[in-house]
Amino acid sequence: MIFVTGGAGFIGSNFVLDWCAGSGEAVLNVDKLTYAGNLNNLASLKGDARHVFVQADICDGARMLALLNSHRPRAIVHFAAESHVDRSIHGPADFIATNINGSFALLEAARAYWSALSGEEGAAFRFLHVSTDEVYGSLGAHDAPFSESTAYAPNSPYSASKAASDHLVRAYHHTYGLPTLTTNCSNNYGPYHFPEKLIPLVIANALAGKALPIYGDGMQVRDWLYVSDHCAAIRRVLDGGRPGQVYNIGGWNEKANIEVVRTLCDILDREAPRADGASYRAQIVHVADRPGHDQRYAIDASKIERELGWKPAETFETGTEKTVRWYLANQAWVADVQSGAYLKWVNQNYDNRGT
Ligand code: NAD
Ligand code: TYD
Repeated sequence: MIFVTGGAGFIGSNFVLDWCAGSGEAVLNVDKLTYAGNLNNLASLKGDARHVFVQADICDGARMLALLNSHRPRAIVHFAAESHVDRSIHGPADFIATNINGSFALLEAARAYWSALSGEEGAAFRFLHVSTDEVYGSLGAHDAPFSESTAYAPNSPYSASKAASDHLVRAYHHTYGLPTLTTNCSNNYGPYHFPEKLIPLVIANALAGKALPIYGDGMQVRDWLYVSDHCAAIRRVLDGGRPGQVYNIGGWNEKANIEVVRTLCDILDREAPRADGASYRAQIVHVADRPGHDQRYAIDASKIERELGWKPAETFETGTEKTVRWYLANQAWVADVQSGAYLKWVNQNYDNRGT
């Protein structure tokens, strides 16, 4: 079996669902169920013996080791993290605890478990660390995209904590020989994306008749990847990646935020037109910028294509259409996650921004 952390979050739950759809191999899903973890994402696996869920904190190293020893996985795929830049600005402590100390505790447990494996099992074992392109910092408009050898320059508490975890993973390979793999991926979007992030927030706010908040001028650029493409890339790296290596994953889809929001409005105008016939674009509002906002991220994903034959299946056009349709068909899921705690976050992040 494989051992997945953070498998009740956005990307982790998509990964677990895709894994179970395409493989007979079992998944042990270890998740603390923070505000971002949601077992409803995995409802379709109810009664499926291949999916075992355990609520646990990766910071609890003794618990991680006990789970490894009792379930004997052949690999760990580590998604668990605090993942939202704006939350890291309001409260960085949880990011240090989970992303740095939690990854360290998990690495220590993995090292102890792996060291006791037989030669063949130990050689086949993998620790795959799921990370982000944000560790590389911010690009100028004409800079080359991030490659695996770009120097780290994280700018937010989130990206700094992910950078620290990447360095620990690297050190565990170089120092102890732990067979690690690291993936640094661009911005994901798709089903089960928590509506604190740009794309699901815009879809949910548009349908609720609320403002669509663009930070600053909206000219910041991100590279967008449909989540199932990220999951496929992770499976490919797990299967064929070389231990100790880093693989950048991206969609070759650089878009300015304002362009992303206008695209979503145009799809919604077709799929769920406003009662008054006006475009959802009328709800766009520019608000105060994010402090330290990175201007541009772009990924050179040629290494994973060259070495492992992966490239994205979805374009930005097909991925955003699918995403909008998923949110339209799953409004009960959105309503469920927009609980009291969610409203508190919305007030904290947007009330003093001028929306
Ligand atoms: P998410 O916030 O939606 O989910 C994180 C999951 O981790 C949640 O289920 C949460 O309950 C769990 N978790 C948090 N702290 C935990 C702890 N201490 N112990 C156990 N479980 C804990 O995040 P996501 O967007 O699915 O991102 C998953 C991973 O992918 C993260 O490591 C993130 O840095 C990375 N990543 C995300 C993106 C993106 O665009 N979302 C892009 C590249 C990389
Ligand atoms: P986000 O989805 O938070 O991802 P990240 O910060 O990890 O890239 O934000 C994507 C981009 O959208 C980022 O440049 C910030 C911007 N943004 C807004 O303009 N308005 C919003 O309300 C949010 C949440 C994000």
